[in-house]
Amino acid sequence: MSPERFAALWRSLLPVGRVGRDGGYLRSPWTPTDEYCREWFVEEALDRELEIDTDGNGNLVAWWGSPQNESGVVTGSHLDSVPHGGAYDGPLGVVSGLLAIDLLRERGVRPRRPIGVAVFTEEEGSRFGVACLGSRLLTGAIDPATARDLADRNGVTLADAMSRAGADPDALGPDPERLRRIGTFVELHIEQGRALTAPVGVASAIWPHGRWRMDFTGQPNHAGTTAMADRHDPMLTFAYAVLAADKEAREQDAHATVGRVAVSPNATNAIPASVSAWLDARAASSSTLDGVVAAIGTTVTERSKQDGTGFTLTAESESPVVEFNTALRDRIAARLGGAPVLPTGAGHDAGVLSAYVPTAMLFVRNPTGVSHAPSEYATDVDCAAGVEALADTLEELAC
Ligand code: GLV
Ligand code: MN
Ligand code: MN
Repeated sequence: MSPERFAALWRSLLPVGRVGRDGGYLRSPWTPTDEYCREWFVEEALDRELEIDTDGNGNLVAWWGSPQNESGVVTGSHLDSVPHGGAYDGPLGVVSGLLAIDLLRERGVRPRRPIGVAVFTEEEGSRFGVACLGSRLLTGAIDPATARDLADRNGVTLADAMSRAGADPDALGPDPERLRRIGTFVELHIEQGRALTAPVGVASAIWPHGRWRMDFTGQPNHAGTTAMADRHDPMLTFAYAVLAADKEAREQDAHATVGRVAVSPNATNAIPASVSAWLDARAASSSTLDGVVAAIGTTVTERSKQDGTGFTLTAESESPVVEFNTALRDRIAARLGGAPVLPTGAGHDAGVLSAYVPTAMLFVRNPTGVSHAPSEYATDVDCAAGVEALADTLEELAC
């Protein structure tokens, strides 16, 4: 595939949801922008005479061949973004899936098994807080009643957001028949660090990771008249928690990030009443991850006692370690001429699906290593190489 050909389809999606101010993306699930992305996908699929199937969770699959009698080889990824995220995280896998089908057809390939290109809903968990929500619902990894009640930052529940978008929240939930149709899943994704030096690599594992909400409460009071000794300031305990998370992660060779915070009432001249912040923590092993989160919980609890503030730590979304199917991984790496094999600290729908079906991932090189930010980037040459590698992989698995 020529880089120009990759770029032609890539550019047709590029303006959707891009924010003028920083060039990042706001592609939040169950919004008009999300709907526009889905329409783009459906049109591209119909142009290719693929059959569109939608489950009750908003996940889409465009099928080449029918999965009724034989389960398929499914690729794809997601179209939602983190707030002000990059263009590649998610859409690269979807665009590459469509182009890989074009390539296979041009090669005259007649797959024995059907091939599907999937778009999973709310992979980033940036609106309703739970990462990989679409694939978790499909597989039954999250209870639909719990999902329906998840609320966004404005208090809009998933159920309300779906209703407003014309979808039926009562249809949310596990779908064993549609899961059966995914015989093998291969997600292509931009690599999200600088670990991949070849154009294309194959995933070995995903670090266990999760999100925890930290709630701090205190005594709201006047900034000018409250003596320093009399304060119960939740912002102080919060600040300590951010430093404690950073320290624990560095000491235990893990990653910890506090990237989101909400302060109430958020006034310059008032000690806050409460602070809520979200901790994202990841590590190579579950025991390290558990150790980091437990240590943060213990040390911040002690600090909150000194500060006379309240502190609670609540798990919102947890993903165990994923070791991708070794035989599948090695078969793909061999087919790609000995592509490098590497783990990642980023979460993916492939990680959720790997507990149910043989699953693999391909990575495309990221020259700067930046991701979840507007400057996330891969070259058209590498992306075109990714499409070729995905086509080779689908041919290997479906023929
Ligand atoms: C998803 O991209 C995540 O790793 O948070
Ligand atoms: Mn992604
Ligand atoms: Mn992401």
